[in-house]
Amino acid sequence: MNVLGIESSCDETSVAILSGHELLSNLISSQDFHKEYGGVVPELSSRAHLQIIIPLVKQALIKSNLELKDIDLICATAGPGLIGALLVGFTFAKGLAFSLDKPFVPVNHIEGHIFSGFLMNEKPEFPFLTLVVSGGHTLLLLVKSFTEIIQLGSTIDDAAGEAFDKVAKMLQLQYPGGPKIQELASKSKGTDIKFPIADLKQPYDFSFSGVKTSVLRYIQKNSVDDKQLNSKLKNDIAFAFQNAVIGALVQNTEKALKEFNVHSISLVGGVAANKSLRDSIVSLGNKYGKRSIIPKLEYCGDNAAMIAFRGMTIFNEGKRFDLSSKPYPHLSKDGFNF
Ligand code: KG4
Ligand code: ZN
Repeated sequence: MNVLGIESSCDETSVAILSGHELLSNLISSQDFHKEYGGVVPELSSRAHLQIIIPLVKQALIKSNLELKDIDLICATAGPGLIGALLVGFTFAKGLAFSLDKPFVPVNHIEGHIFSGFLMNEKPEFPFLTLVVSGGHTLLLLVKSFTEIIQLGSTIDDAAGEAFDKVAKMLQLQYPGGPKIQELASKSKGTDIKFPIADLKQPYDFSFSGVKTSVLRYIQKNSVDDKQLNSKLKNDIAFAFQNAVIGALVQNTEKALKEFNVHSISLVGGVAANKSLRDSIVSLGNKYGKRSIIPKLEYCGDNAAMIAFRGMTIFNEGKRFDLSSKPYPHLSKDGFNF
């Protein structure tokens, strides 16, 4: 079965073709121009998706050595995400399914991330713990099967990636801030600066707004104005901030590892690209004798391969959708859509 996946929830347009379990193409076009504005501008994002989506589908077909008539199933991200951006990929995919008379599967973006470990040669084994860390979400989940996901905890305020982006802004770094913070942190030779990790009532929940405020206070107290923040101090702040975020993520994952008998831990989402976080999760897995499945960088950020894979599992479970399904900008209260 040849599955076409389409992702357009935020600032990446991506098209992938999966043939059975073999990924034939996974093209990702990133909208770099948002960095001028310090964050994603929704209207510009929708327009850029609109411009690139058809050329990208054509390129993916050429790369996969297939024609449109060879596609058996079409999947697209239904949400959560920016509504205008979602509408472009979603409506295009439905139109294509209609014209080719092929089945269409709407895919939850977070579910795409959750199962992205299955794109790797070494795959997660049920049940596994997943830490989803992206620009919009921070979730700790117990994944029992393709149809049973239990949410253990989530952020009560900012998502981890959002905190990286906001702290980067305080340090006058460009959007997206995560990679820039990682770069500065790697130049620090270690520091006594410590930013506190919030202690919450719910054992698996996260909070990053306190850390963010502590960084802001520290910057205000230790520099006459932001421009005078010297590079060593910036490196140390980035290092201390990154440590605080990773500390909170690892601490809750460790609690869950003690409580639930799982085979592996999976770290997914854009922030999973962070080298120190990847290393920390691998060490945690080793400590408890669990395998850690961390997708390669191409599958951490937003990509259509994960959407095609998740769509295929939903289709293989026998679920069918008519073309009246609509996109949704937010994650529902219960989270997932099966
Ligand atoms: O999953 P993703 O590509 O998009 C969303 O669905 O949100 O995640 C994007 C987020 C951004 O906040 C970005 O700053 C963060 O992932 N990110 C990182 C790194 N690379 C990307 N955060 C920390 N370290 C990184 N190396
Ligand atoms: Zn994402």
